[in-house]
Amino acid sequence: MRRCSARAPGKVILSGEHWVVHGGRALAAAVGLYARATCTGWSGDRVVVETPLGRAAVASDGTVDGDAKAAPLGHAIRAALELGYRFMPSICSVDSEIPVGAGLGSSAATAVAVAAAYMAYAAGGPPERESVNRAAFEAEKVTHGKPSGVDNTVSTYGGFILYRRGSRPEPLNMPRLDAEVLIALSGVERRTAEAVGRFTRRLEELNNIGIGGSLASLADKITSLMLEAIARGDAATLGTLLRVSHGILNAMGVSHERLEEIVHIAERAGALGAKLTGAGMGGAAIVLCRGDGCAAVLHSLQSRGYRVLQTALGVDGVEITCEQS
Ligand code: MEV
Repeated sequence: MRRCSARAPGKVILSGEHWVVHGGRALAAAVGLYARATCTGWSGDRVVVETPLGRAAVASDGTVDGDAKAAPLGHAIRAALELGYRFMPSICSVDSEIPVGAGLGSSAATAVAVAAAYMAYAAGGPPERESVNRAAFEAEKVTHGKPSGVDNTVSTYGGFILYRRGSRPEPLNMPRLDAEVLIALSGVERRTAEAVGRFTRRLEELNNIGIGGSLASLADKITSLMLEAIARGDAATLGTLLRVSHGILNAMGVSHERLEEIVHIAERAGALGAKLTGAGMGGAAIVLCRGDGCAAVLHSLQSRGYRVLQTALGVDGVEITCEQS
């Protein structure tokens, strides 16, 4: 019996979250935290996706039913069928080490892993990444309403990516930076759809008073300056840009008092910069620090009860293996 597995990474956004929903660019990186899925045949007549949060089933005509939390993954399978993959009754089991609701791309990574494992199982070999990405995007639309596609794209392709909705994602060759990125969890669940709505309303307000466009240009300029700072290994400037980017997201209404606290604690402890990452209103912040400074930042955040993850940035995208037994 054939069994195919896939693992897909989570992500952080360095710059451009939310703006990317409105046509801007986002700079994002895959992080070394993974969702995994394994698909194998069974005696039933549907494709069943089992997750710790629930179960979804897909019939041969693409009909999806099941628990709300698992249904988006059923839609990834349905999208695979629409992309021409054969219907093969199977069980796909899913688990993930990516904190859920933290803005680290857990839903996208899970959808990428499920789409990739199912496609590999149905086709008997690794699928095109583009198809995996498209199927995972269908799941993301069910989960988040109107996502830009950045999360599933980073999880599929990995590395560092400059992303604009509707354009080919640009993989970036990033030199190693002489600084570390810590991910601090606020402990408050972020709600992407709500945060996107809040940001959008604020942008409309600012457009009405004539400054929405200037702010969008500034956010985009920050993305360009971050790319330049990374390219020349200038961690200090990157830190400043992260902090300014955070300030703008705060002004756009998507921060949270715990995210503000993280940013202030990190700065006081000597971080080069910090910002919320992903949708905001909860979720996580990224903190840029260097050498001994990182130990001080880590200690300060942990002693205030924050969970901090130290993980690699720019890891490979989805990886697929199949075995026959
Ligand atoms: C979520 O990781 C990033 C947002 O920009 C939403 C999206 O791009 O779909 C907030």
